[in-house]
Amino acid sequence: MKKLIVANWKMNLPALKPWKGFRVQKKTEIVICPPFPYFQNVKGNLPGFKLGAQDVFWEKSGAYTGEVSPAMLKSFGVGYVIIGHSERREWLNETDEMINKKVKAALGAGLKIILCVGESWVVRKRGVSAAKNFVKNQLARDLHDVKNKSGIIVAYEPVWAIGSGHSDKPSDAAEMARFIKSLFASSKSKIRLLYGGSVNDKDAASFLHYKEIDGALVGGASLKVRELKKIITQSYHN
Ligand code: 13P
Repeated sequence: MKKLIVANWKMNLPALKPWKGFRVQKKTEIVICPPFPYFQNVKGNLPGFKLGAQDVFWEKSGAYTGEVSPAMLKSFGVGYVIIGHSERREWLNETDEMINKKVKAALGAGLKIILCVGESWVVRKRGVSAAKNFVKNQLARDLHDVKNKSGIIVAYEPVWAIGSGHSDKPSDAAEMARFIKSLFASSKSKIRLLYGGSVNDKDAASFLHYKEIDGALVGGASLKVRELKKIITQSYHN
């Protein structure tokens, strides 16, 4: 399966000039998720990269100030959307119920979703089984009543690893990836699994070489052109 590298720029816009001349190899799929107003900058400057959004709303249109619908994203050439990022769960009180509505609306509109799940340090301290159990329950709530699982990408992002400079142990992330995939074993469509949380140009390869890990969701390191290029290059060899 092709590796998938997703750059989550969060509320940042890095300089795009240094990307000039970078050609994406077909071996890897690369998705850039800029803040909403900058889709055009990415389209214009990064040919060969796919576009993703960092969030979406579940309604089609109406009086929902500040929100953007799945169809609006599609009309801009967006093919992917991150849903349920822990920063939104934590800071904006996004609930599993809201996430579930977003998942259904985005899939219904034909977007591929990158559903973020992952345990806090309080849970992880209790052990690997507690973390697995947490993630299993989160997935059950977020995907409640979602019949067709095609187009689902799950990003395992342990909350304690995000922005901390300390990624998960690659072997532990691979074990979680195997576990998450096993939860979808009865589903007709295979899900793709990304690891996210302080991935950088030094450790990306150690995650990507596991066959259970189909790619990476990269935050901070994706803002530095040289780092992201190195991560992308490593994905060609794994
Ligand atoms: P960092 O790579 O900065 O830890 O962020 C990960 C993340 O939140 C990607 O969605």
